[in-house]
Amino acid sequence: MERNEFIKSLGLGVALVCAGTCLSACGSKSNDPTPSPAGGGGGGGGTPGATASIDLATQLTTVGSFVATGGVLFIRLAAGNSTSSFVATQAACPHQGGALNWVQASNLIQCSLHASQYTSGGAILRQPNDGGTTSALKVYNTSISGTILTATIS
Ligand code: FES
Repeated sequence: MERNEFIKSLGLGVALVCAGTCLSACGSKSNDPTPSPAGGGGGGGGTPGATASIDLATQLTTVGSFVATGGVLFIRLAAGNSTSSFVATQAACPHQGGALNWVQASNLIQCSLHASQYTSGGAILRQPNDGGTTSALKVYNTSISGTILTATIS
């Protein structure tokens, strides 16, 4: 074999190896799963569009009562079973996820973790007692069908 023939055959071999490597690499990339743009989800808030419901036949029967379910804090503010008698907010504190409770005597929502306080409309009355800052509560639309009070998380 002449020197020139050897170099030509070597060049052809290298080209084939490179082409094979490139095609193989491209093939494996196209088989990768597509990343989900939605991410992990979960977290402190509820899923937008999801709903949470309670049965007024057995729950929130007295003014000032409250219950947290499905990421929603339901509070009865007045007598009667119309939506204006209730408010529904996020159940977890925006600061660090503490449980929120309705304090009927003070007419406010208070966090059990750092004592931040909110109006029934979600506005901040008092910042957390750990030096941090919180944000206003999300307040959800409600509807009533029969005795079922439903909040739609937004
Ligand atoms: S978690 Fe509610 S005030 Fe900190």
